[in-house]
Amino acid sequence: MVLGELVRLRPMEPSDAEAMWRWSHDPEVMRWMSDGHRQSLHHVRQRLEERPRNAYGDVLYGIEVRADARLIGLVTLRDAEPETGRAELDLYLGEKDCWGRGYATDAMRTMCRYGFDKMRLHKITLTVVTENHAAHHVYRKVGFVDEGVLRQEFRRDGEWYDMYTMGLLEGELR
Ligand SMILES: CC(C)(COP(=O)(O)OP(=O)(O)OC[C@H]1O[C@@H](n2cnc3c(N)ncnc32)[C@H](O)[C@@H]1OP(=O)(O)O)[C@@H](O)C(=O)NCCC(=O)NCCS
Repeated sequence: MVLGELVRLRPMEPSDAEAMWRWSHDPEVMRWMSDGHRQSLHHVRQRLEERPRNAYGDVLYGIEVRADARLIGLVTLRDAEPETGRAELDLYLGEKDCWGRGYATDAMRTMCRYGFDKMRLHKITLTVVTENHAAHHVYRKVGFVDEGVLRQEFRRDGEWYDMYTMGLLEGELR
């Protein structure tokens, strides 16, 4: 368990498959995320069962509310390399009734602190669709800086959207 103020981060279990499957079929949750092809509940469970253990280059944690142990989303740090001290972060909250309560902000801070303190990272990067104003606001609030714009990087319903590439250096986390 990795403890934040409002949330804790914990490894995912095959029994979390139903929640993940439900989130991946919710158009509001998936609005600004790559969704790929729809997968069956069976396949999502199988992926969790067969997933390799968390390791330096691939960390996946579920985001749980500390008050009631409810799983509300996911956060990953992937492609970390000791040579570069860099990794890429992804986060989402699938339970919409939990939006706007500070959980994503706390989960971001908790995962970034983990990356800098435990994994000795120097830099964490992410990308976000420029139209995803709530996520962009959260990332800036915790210290991420816009480093560039990836033009027409994301396609949804036949429209192309730009993405910001953002970075947070060791010592910049707020
Ligand atoms: C985006 C998301 C991560 C935010 O999570 P959250 O738990 O609601 O975020 P928090 O409650 O910690 O903070 C929300 C902040 O965004 C602000 N906000 C909400 N909607 C906003 C909008 N449309 N424009 C600008 N800011 C907005 C809130 O005012 C709040 O800021 P404040 O704390 O300074 O008042 C969550 O809604 C989510 O996972 N959405 C779906 C998937 C997704 O888009 N993931 C990110 C992919 S890059």
